[in-house]
Amino acid sequence: MAKKGAISAAVVKRLPRYYRFLGELKKQGVERISSGELSRRMQLTASQIRQDLNCFGGFGQQGYGYHVDELREEIGKILGVDRKFSTIIIGAGNLGRAITTHIHFDTRGCELVGIFDKNDSIIGTSVGEGLSVRHIDELEQFCKERHPVMAVLCIPKAETQQIADTLVHMGVKAFWNFSHYDLSIGYDDILVENVHLGDSLMTLTYGVNVLMPPQ
Ligand code: NAI
Repeated sequence: MAKKGAISAAVVKRLPRYYRFLGELKKQGVERISSGELSRRMQLTASQIRQDLNCFGGFGQQGYGYHVDELREEIGKILGVDRKFSTIIIGAGNLGRAITTHIHFDTRGCELVGIFDKNDSIIGTSVGEGLSVRHIDELEQFCKERHPVMAVLCIPKAETQQIADTLVHMGVKAFWNFSHYDLSIGYDDILVENVHLGDSLMTLTYGVNVLMPPQ
């Protein structure tokens, strides 16, 4: 396995896609795949795939291709999906509930242990499997007991920095940040992954705009 930090950010961005593709191949009962076939399916060049996988030792064999399950497992270890990082969600509104219900945290290295909100009328309501919304006032005590290391932020922009500061203070190390707030925490060792679905949509409208130029 590669040493921590030894893989470039660009390669890391592609690893979840490899992992997902290999999972689909595994489901289809495919045991091994040639680099040519993998590159055709993933619409990457075979040399790109080779370069990516060589970053952590390379798993292909000349004339054999890749062993689907082994490669998937190895990439999974690099991504940490075999871990159980304790994770909480802040904000149990539309987005927080959708994420709780539809993201399979447990197959992605996370254990969802709590969801918090400040709206009294939804405290105690159930979300997803076996979770009920806790009041944000319980957050600090909860963190002292359960030590979450990751937090998903589904709260309005204006609330984000203060909540993030509290969470960092309580030991949270990484944020999956959906609030439209540029979370630039002044701590060196905090990881932030900002998600903007609107940006993804605009990447698509750019393409459509090129395809169908204004008359
Ligand atoms: P929502 O209004 O349904 O839910 C927000 C929830 O956060 C509410 O239940 C509210 O009580 C709670 N909340 C507010 N301040 C809080 C605090 N300090 N502590 C605990 N809970 C708090 O809104 P929705 O639709 O769930 O969206 C949430 C946020 O995510 C919004 O800021 C929205 O703009 C953003 N968003 C971002 C997307 C993205 O692609 N990044 C996509 C959709 C929404």
